[in-house]
Amino acid sequence: MKQWYDKIEAADSVEKLEEIRIAVFGKKGVLAAEFAKMKSAPNEEKAQIAKELNIHKGKMTELFNQRKIVLATEALEAAMKAEKIDVSLFSPTAERGALHPVMQTMDRIVDYFVSMNFTVNTGPIVEDDFHNFEALNLPKYHPARDMQDTFYFKDEMLLRTHTSPVQIRTMLHSKPPIRMIAPGAVFRRDYDLTHTPMFHQVEGLVVDEEGKVSFANLKFILEDFLKYMFGDVDVRFRPSFFPFTEPSAEVDISCIFCKGEGCRVCSKTGWLEVLGCGIVDPNVFEAVGYKDVSGYAFGLGVERFAMLIQHIGDLRSLFEGDVRLLEQFQ
Ligand code: PHE
Repeated sequence: MKQWYDKIEAADSVEKLEEIRIAVFGKKGVLAAEFAKMKSAPNEEKAQIAKELNIHKGKMTELFNQRKIVLATEALEAAMKAEKIDVSLFSPTAERGALHPVMQTMDRIVDYFVSMNFTVNTGPIVEDDFHNFEALNLPKYHPARDMQDTFYFKDEMLLRTHTSPVQIRTMLHSKPPIRMIAPGAVFRRDYDLTHTPMFHQVEGLVVDEEGKVSFANLKFILEDFLKYMFGDVDVRFRPSFFPFTEPSAEVDISCIFCKGEGCRVCSKTGWLEVLGCGIVDPNVFEAVGYKDVSGYAFGLGVERFAMLIQHIGDLRSLFEGDVRLLEQFQ
């Protein structure tokens, strides 16, 4: 047994110590073997043997833990020394910062709509129930509220789940005609390869006198926009549902990876869903006191666009703040 005490003390790396741990404390380790041997010892000696073994076990565990702390600290110190950066050192190659890939994509989207004469509006991130839901034709207890897993505060306040409340705020403080986009951060309780609890949307809203804004206008601008973003893609409109638009559509582009043949990214369908849109529901106009107007609205997720354009596989990696990763998108 004594030799194992020495070995623990002599272990000179975390890896080495781990090997010893397995050899001593593991299922097929020394201690297990000693305990097994005890079974064949005379009955009157068993208690004494067990007692001694347990004392060894306790002492070795303590020794092991102490050694582990020492080695882990040494390893950390070595790593810190090796990765140390002397910020006062002159560097002949100046490091340049860059915009985050999501912001690059956002800028490109905003540029398009600004060139098409849209104004850029913003609204608060901490919203109330009225602007985020109620005025958007989403009354309390409406099942469609489940489409958006919401972070709530006290007193009916919440983190906005989409940029659509900016539509409401804009209409409440200005008169038609309106031609606006609203870029910004939104929040939902979601976390996987393609969802993070914070992400970005760009909302669009166009309102004018009754009869002046049609689905054809909406189709034109979105097709033109998607070709600007993705190049020569096919665009299709699929009937869908949003409480604040009627009729509503989801818009797909032909898969930019397989050109519509069917691949992993498009789940063999040949199409990629990229945004939601529709003709503004009359109930929304009623909520903001608009009469005799017509309009269209659309909303898109910026991260989705960034992932497609920049070939990003795991969205979460973008928000871990590792400069070595972000540098690749300069
Ligand atoms: N707000 C919707 C969402 O977050 C997107 C949308 C906006 C759909 C405007 C239609 C019109 O899913």
